Amino acid sequence: MNGYPAGFVRILFATLTLLFASGLALVPNALDTRLGLDLGLWSLGGQRTWAAALHAASFFTTLMLLGALWTVHMRAGWVRRENVFSAILLLVAFGLLVVSGLVLYYGDELIGQVALGIHLLAGFLLPVLLFAHLIGAVQAQRRCGLRRP
Ligand code: HEM
Ligand code: HEM
Repeated sequence: MNGYPAGFVRILFATLTLLFASGLALVPNALDTRLGLDLGLWSLGGQRTWAAALHAASFFTTLMLLGALWTVHMRAGWVRRENVFSAILLLVAFGLLVVSGLVLYYGDELIGQVALGIHLLAGFLLPVLLFAHLIGAVQAQRRCGLRRP
């Protein structure tokens, strides 16, 4: 990725992996407490606090990295009109995660249930959209001759 320090993409992927893994770990407890759905999946018990702390640490870091992507990567791609479709979907998914995450913190019971549905939908779509964006990146690099066909 042009204009970023070596290792930036690796840090981005490591952070997104932690974000997804911590979110996934929180799923059974969230379904149980918010929707009364016990799917018989894993239970974190007293470890939930640690998973929630890891989730918070990874989403703070994700938002910081998105800020860094905004200043160079997104503007450069936008000016060249490359890989824009999956990029916009990615940004919509992150936007929904942020807004629904805030509602999970501060909303009342009913709106919290709706927020959980939106949060999980956007959360599980995230890897799919990232994969689509990476395929688009390979195609964009081929078009510019930066990668062999
Ligand atoms: C930048 C992206 C994300 C942000 C800003 C974010 C934000 C938040 C916030 C603020 C909370 C409430 C804190 C808490 O209940 O402990 C939360 C909880 C949660 N998040 Fe995320 N999150 C993100 C990504 C994800 C992803 C990718 C997943 C799914 C794989 C996910 C799944 C969950 C779950 C299951 C909960 C627990 C909800 C509950 O206990 O009611 N999150 N998230
Ligand atoms: C308007 C928003 C965006 C545009 C127009 C855009 C555009 C592009 C383009 C053209 C490429 C291929 C060549 C290059 O690296 O420049 C690319 C690659 C990539 N994008 Fe984006 N992007 C956007 C947002 C995002 C977001 C939000 C993420 C965060 C997850 C992201 C993560 C990546 C990654 C990881 C690569 C592959 C880099 C590599 O393998 O070196 N992009 N993007």
